[in-house]
Amino acid sequence: MKRGLNSRSVSMLQAVAGCLLVVALANGQTAPQEKPQMAEEVFKNIQVLRGLTVDQFMGTMGFIAAALSMNCSECHHTGSAAEYAEDTPRKQTARKMILMVNALNKSNFGGQREVTCYSCHRSDARPKITPSLAEQYGTPPPDDPNEVEISGTPAAGAPSADQVLNKYIQALGGAQRLASVTSFAGKGTYEGFDTEGDKFPVEVYARAPNERTTIVHLRAGDNIRTCDGRNAWNTSAGTLLPIPVFSLSGGDLEGAKMDAGLSFPGQIKQLLKDWRTGFPSTTIDDKDVDVVQGSSPDNTPVKFYFDKKSGLLLRQVRYTDTALGLNPTQIDYDDYRDVSGVKMPFRLTTTWTDGRSTIVFSELRANVSIDAAKFSKPAGNTPQKP
Ligand code: HEC
Ligand code: HEC
Repeated sequence: MKRGLNSRSVSMLQAVAGCLLVVALANGQTAPQEKPQMAEEVFKNIQVLRGLTVDQFMGTMGFIAAALSMNCSECHHTGSAAEYAEDTPRKQTARKMILMVNALNKSNFGGQREVTCYSCHRSDARPKITPSLAEQYGTPPPDDPNEVEISGTPAAGAPSADQVLNKYIQALGGAQRLASVTSFAGKGTYEGFDTEGDKFPVEVYARAPNERTTIVHLRAGDNIRTCDGRNAWNTSAGTLLPIPVFSLSGGDLEGAKMDAGLSFPGQIKQLLKDWRTGFPSTTIDDKDVDVVQGSSPDNTPVKFYFDKKSGLLLRQVRYTDTALGLNPTQIDYDDYRDVSGVKMPFRLTTTWTDGRSTIVFSELRANVSIDAAKFSKPAGNTPQKP
C-alpha cells in the first residue's frame, strides 16, 4: 500500500469492518432480523451508489480507497460527517468512473463484473498506459499466499480437508475438551489505525454456539461490535458516522456470524460447507501451511491456512461483496496458549482493505457466566455533531 488512510477516516471504515471479531448467539430463537438503515437515508449526497445499506456503502468506499490506494481525504473533506457530503473534483470523477465501469461491464461482459476499479488502477490514482520493460524482465514479486487457487489434481498423498480439520481439532485439545468450553471472557489491549498505534483496553465475550461481543474502550466512547447469531451491530464511537449504532447486512453479517461461531472451533466443519483442498503448497512467515477452503452459508469462499507442523490455524481469508468489487479480510491467529485444557490464540490481527487492528489478550477465562445483555443490540454514544 502506498499511502495509509488517515486514522480518522479509517476508523470510520473500521466501525464497519469491525464485526470480524465480533458477534453473537443464535440459539435457535427466531428473533426477527433487523431492517438495516440505507445509505441514502443516513447520508446527504448519494447520487449513484443508491440502494445499499450503510455497511455495504462503507465497504464500497473501502474498495475504492484500496483499488486506488487513496486516502479518504483525497476525495473528501474529512473534518465532519457533513464535510464528507461535499463534492470535490475527485469525488465527481469517481462518480463518473462508477457509471463508466457499470456501462463497460454491461455492454461488453453481459453485465458480469469482469472490470472493476482495480483492473485499471492497480492501487494507483493514474492507471499506467505503457508496458514497463523493468516489470517484464524483472524478478516477479513473491506469491501472495492469499491468492493461491486450486489448479489441476491435488498431489498424491496430500491430506484431505477432513484430515486437516481433524488435526486442527486435535491440536486444540480434541473434540471432547473443545465441546466442554461453552463460553469465555477475555481482556487485553486493542490497537489499530483508529487509535494511531496507541493501545486501548478491550473486552471480548463469547457464548456457544455463536454469540460474540468485542468492546474497545476508546477515548471517544466504547466501540462495540456485537452479534447475537442472527443480527450484528457496530457502534460508531470514534468514527464520524452520523448514527450511534448500525446493523450489518450481507457479507458483513455473514462474516460476523462466522467469527462468532469460530470462537468455538469444534464446530468448524459444520459452520462451513463444500470443503475443498488441493491448493499448491505455500507458506506464511516461512511456515509451510495446508490450505483448506470452505463456503459460508451465503456461498462465499473462505480460506483457512493451517500450520503443517502444529496443525494450528494461522490465518483465515474471506471476501465481502461491495457494490463495485470484493473486499478481502484477513485474520491472523497467533500465540496459542492453554485455557482450561484447550488452546486459544492470544493474538488476533485483522487486516481489511486499508486498516489493520490487533487484539492481544492478557487474560482469557473459559466457562464464565456472562450477562445476556452483553449480546443484545448496543445503544452506542450520541454521534458527534456534524
Ligand atoms: C476516489 C474517491 C473516493 C474515495 C477515495 C473515497 N470516497 Fe467516499 N465518496 C466518493 C463518492 C463518489 C461518493 C458519493 C457516492 C454517490 O454519489 O453515490 C462518496 C460518498 C461518501 C460518503 C457519503 C457522504 C454523504 O453524506 O453524502 C461517505 C460517508 C464517504 N464517502 C466516506 C468515505 C470514506 C470513509 C472513505 C475512505 C475509506 C472514502 N469515502 C473514500 C468517493 C470517494
Ligand atoms: C478502464 C480503466 C479504468 C477503470 C475501470 C477505472 N478507471 Fe478511474 N481512471 C482511469 C484513467 C485512465 C484515469 C486518468 C484519467 C486522466 O488522467 O485524465 C482515471 C482517473 C480516475 C480518478 C482521478 C484520479 C486523479 O488523479 O485525480 C479517480 C478518482 C478515479 N479514476 C476513480 C475510479 C473509480 C472509483 C473506479 C471504479 C469505480 C475507476 N476509477 C475505474 C481509468 C479507469
